[in-house]
Amino acid sequence: MNTKLIKVNPAAPEKALTAEAGEILRKGGLVAIPTETVYGLAANALDPEAVGKIFDAKGRPHDNPLIVHIANYAEVLPLVQKVDPRLPALAKAFWPGPLTVIMKKSPIVPDVTSGKLDTVAIRMPSDPVAHAIIEAAGLPLAAPSANSSGKPSPTRASHVMDDMDGKIDMVVDGGSCRIGVESTVVTLAMDPPRLLRPGGVTPEELRKVLPDLVIDKAVFSQLAQDEKAQSPGMKYKHYSPKAQVTLLKGSLEGAVGYVAQKKSENSCVLCFAGESEQFNCPAIEYGTAGDGLSQASRVFDVLRQVDDEGYTEAFVRCPQATGVGLAVYNRLLRSAAFKVVEVDKKYPVIGLTGQTGAGKTTVSRYLKENGYHIIDGDILAREAVKNKEVLSALAAAFGKEVVNEDGTLNRKVTAERAFATRENTDKLNAITHPVITAMTVLEIARAESEGAKGAVVDAAALFESPIPTLCTVTAAVVAPEGVRLKRIMGRDRLTEEEALHRIRAQYGEEYYANHADILIENGPDDDYKAGADALMATIEAMM
Ligand code: TXA
Ligand code: MG
Repeated sequence: MNTKLIKVNPAAPEKALTAEAGEILRKGGLVAIPTETVYGLAANALDPEAVGKIFDAKGRPHDNPLIVHIANYAEVLPLVQKVDPRLPALAKAFWPGPLTVIMKKSPIVPDVTSGKLDTVAIRMPSDPVAHAIIEAAGLPLAAPSANSSGKPSPTRASHVMDDMDGKIDMVVDGGSCRIGVESTVVTLAMDPPRLLRPGGVTPEELRKVLPDLVIDKAVFSQLAQDEKAQSPGMKYKHYSPKAQVTLLKGSLEGAVGYVAQKKSENSCVLCFAGESEQFNCPAIEYGTAGDGLSQASRVFDVLRQVDDEGYTEAFVRCPQATGVGLAVYNRLLRSAAFKVVEVDKKYPVIGLTGQTGAGKTTVSRYLKENGYHIIDGDILAREAVKNKEVLSALAAAFGKEVVNEDGTLNRKVTAERAFATRENTDKLNAITHPVITAMTVLEIARAESEGAKGAVVDAAALFESPIPTLCTVTAAVVAPEGVRLKRIMGRDRLTEEEALHRIRAQYGEEYYANHADILIENGPDDDYKAGADALMATIEAMM
């Protein structure tokens, strides 16, 4: 097939050209179009045959559903069973723009488009060319990113031509994509609403409209072989150049040292603006450190450049996972097939936490049997409040009654006052955390000097403390409620009601999934071993 490449004015596309693209789409053809996120490979979303061609051209697995693109709000109505009551506010805040919303689909959306799911993903692009072509076609357009499945998404027409020349009818060149990473995908078909893929709209922005939004764990971590992906796209190898990618978490100095040790003849580095000179290795810059937007607009381009220039290995400076940076981090994690190296932390430190009754202590014991040194956060916390300066700071903050006459801490009064308000709890933490952290650092050094394989900091409130910054990885032990209930009742001699009360007062699995690098799933019979073994394997792979 001959692929026609046409160039349009990105800000004000020529009517005759967008009409030509619209005509191809109406006839069931495929047209690659620019959007503000990445280039999309468009076809009539309601025509199963046309949509089938998208899957063929991309080599895309058939269970991976497509996003349906519309030009005007009213076009949502025929696509969904009913308009979710939260949609108008979302649309008002983010449409047109880089947000995709999933709702229950209506029967007019074919199974091929929705990957046989009963939901449909809808987005209204803001890019003037995309908008004009959807209008010209007069149809909702199914459009995945216009790359071959598995490769980095295209942000320029030349990227699309590299992957699609000869396989589709037309490529519309509207210049470079403004944002450079795909849209944020949110599902309203689950309760609470869930972010399935980070993108141009940040979680912070979304929470202004959807305060109970949760982030799917597939955003941060690799799904297990048999785990169900809420967003099918998350389970496939993705965004990968041919070169092997390694993500370097930590300081610039650490990265420079690591690369100096590990580089080979065909290695390159992807780093931030102004850093190239530091590396004794060819380097390509992608955006500014700490500026997610500038990184987003470059990340896919540089991943493709790595292959174009013949490198077989790329060491990538890790972006900050906040704002749009979260999307950049998420894409890079996948292009690295989750290979992340902590460049600053030579000696492995595991932060271990978990739900009450899930079996954190059992996992700790198992790690100890395997040569790890266990640091008990409870013991350190108790030691910390024996420190004279801590005691006087607590007295100053919460009243002299928090110290007994014999100079020891009155735990009961301290707890009553410190946990009375969020503000007081913050005050307590501000006083005790620095001391506990300093003690932890000493304990880690001791573990290392005594030759332990690594240190494990066992702490119930790990993610509310600064300890994760000391850790190579963090892991959380979780278990089904029934299992935890039984354990707590037996261990602490509680009635079912008391045990339930305690469970409900604590964070659920979602919280741990969102914060921990690794989840250790426990069950009634020593089920934790698989997760704990995977944790140790991860540590060993990093060394
Ligand atoms: O920015 C974008 O969203 C670009 C441009 C072209 O609009 N499109 C895009 O499409 O990134 P694609 O197909 O590369 O990614 C769509 C993602 C996939 O991870 C897919 O699994 C998920 O959205 N998805 C689509 N429909 C879904 C549904 N009904 N339920 C769950 N996930 C869905
Ligand atoms: Mg894609």
